[in-house]
Amino acid sequence: MTSENQAANLRTGLAKKMPHQKYRAFEPIALPDRQWPDNRIIEAPRWCSVDLRDGNQALVEPMNPVEKHKMWDLLVEIGFKEIEVGFPAASQTDFEFVRKIIEEDLIPDDLTIQVLCQARKELIERTCEAVSGASNVIFHLYNSTSTLQRKVVFDMSQAEVIQLATDATKLVKENTKKLRDEGTRVILEYSPESYTATEMDFAIEICSEVLNEWDASEKEKIILNLPSTVEMATPNVYADQIEYFIRNLPGRNKAIISLHTHNDRGTGIAASELGLMAGAERVEGTLFGNGERTGNLDIITMAMNMFSQGIDPNLYLGDMPKIVSVSEECTKIPIHVRQPYAGELVFTAFSGSHQDAIKKGMHLVSTGSDNFWEVPYLPIDPNDVGSSYRETVRVNSQSGKGGVAFVLEHHFGVTLPRALLLEFSPVVQGLSEAGGGELKPEEMWNAFKKEYIDVNGPYRLIEYKLGAASPEIEICNGLIQVSENELRINGRGSGPIAAFVDALVKTLNEPLNVVEYQEYALNEGSQARAICILCMEDESKNRYYGVGVSKNTNRAAFESIISSLNRKWIK
Ligand code: KIV
Ligand code: ZN
Repeated sequence: MTSENQAANLRTGLAKKMPHQKYRAFEPIALPDRQWPDNRIIEAPRWCSVDLRDGNQALVEPMNPVEKHKMWDLLVEIGFKEIEVGFPAASQTDFEFVRKIIEEDLIPDDLTIQVLCQARKELIERTCEAVSGASNVIFHLYNSTSTLQRKVVFDMSQAEVIQLATDATKLVKENTKKLRDEGTRVILEYSPESYTATEMDFAIEICSEVLNEWDASEKEKIILNLPSTVEMATPNVYADQIEYFIRNLPGRNKAIISLHTHNDRGTGIAASELGLMAGAERVEGTLFGNGERTGNLDIITMAMNMFSQGIDPNLYLGDMPKIVSVSEECTKIPIHVRQPYAGELVFTAFSGSHQDAIKKGMHLVSTGSDNFWEVPYLPIDPNDVGSSYRETVRVNSQSGKGGVAFVLEHHFGVTLPRALLLEFSPVVQGLSEAGGGELKPEEMWNAFKKEYIDVNGPYRLIEYKLGAASPEIEICNGLIQVSENELRINGRGSGPIAAFVDALVKTLNEPLNVVEYQEYALNEGSQARAICILCMEDESKNRYYGVGVSKNTNRAAFESIISSLNRKWIK
């Protein structure tokens, strides 16, 4: 099609079409009396990290032993109590890693390692070899049960697939006997891979057979992990499938129901959340959702979602910058700036109205409203995940005076009077419009200094001396530069500022009226300097702000007067 034709088609609404006829809708199960929509998540599930297995196997460059170790340390630090450490029968690196953490005694007592294994004799034997000597092991056995895979890949009947799974379970039982005799606690996890693409009753049957073959009991439960290996439907359909499974599984009290969602439709987290509402107890996933194709369930987001609802996530995510950095280093995948709870921009507002609301919300929280976090546009306190408040507001051309005020206050400890803020905000807006992007705090401060402190006008304060003529009268003698000339000034008044103004008025012969004045220490620690913000009014009622900064409070005040005079002359 020529570009003219294309343009013509666009004009007439004949845009190109996608070949949607190639696909068909996922057929949901019938569960008209579903209960899960009325349930709520009230506690964290048992989390299992699969970063070192599902996450690792999806990397362009799988983790080397050093990176695996780094990731392991991070997962332990976060507080995972179950970690899938690899697929040792399929990968020598995984095998060696499992041996290393066992032999070097790197596994905390309350942590259970999990190893993945296919339903094949030699792989089961090799996996047992890998975990020998560990105290707690989840032996994760899987085989695909999906309708499509049975037809296209294995050419097996349902009965044959059940036989395969139960035979493998028997082998795991036999091969782990030695481990158990040596003191290892072995839990069986069984995954009907592609559970969501399997006939539900068949999935229940195979899981039930495996449960019986393993001889699971209420005390020694089996983990039944129900993967949406490829996400194919809306998350409510997954929840229906979980509720259906739980309702119909014989011996449900002998099983922990585990979720393992992938993210092909972008709803992996939602699916697991609804799956918990449907009665599951355990969740597998990875940090930031690294994993096959579009990834696994993102445990960080799911845990933080709970946290933001007042639920203890049972994971420590307070040092998000570290989690991001280790994760990026090990996976070599950068975390997106908008990654929930962790991305560089997720606690940042550029829009003026958002900035105003955040500023007010922060003020309310700091003055102790009702102890709950109530800041508009910020679902959680950035401080809780190691982010700084200061970054919540950044300034570009979309920002307003609220943003300017916030940046000056939080980065430099400067609170501007409202009239000065209204005057300075357009300067900031002009600069960010001219630059086309963000105006960094340092750039804003430099603009403020240029405008109000280091004002390029005819006056300069060279020196001054203060003395007392009486307890009530202050005297000020000084030397100022006016264009090319140096002038001596002398004045008196009820205080240093009044005496300095008097000296200026007498020498310069122009009336000066201080209408606004505030002075306070800048937030700079032991080197603290004072900032004086002052406004003068001339005879025509024009007002000129000037600002002075000095270690000496009198000098700061005098400099602010000189600045305001200079601003009068250059305007
Ligand atoms: O996604 C999946 O089905 C898996 C299984 C091995 C549990 O990763
Ligand atoms: Zn998976």
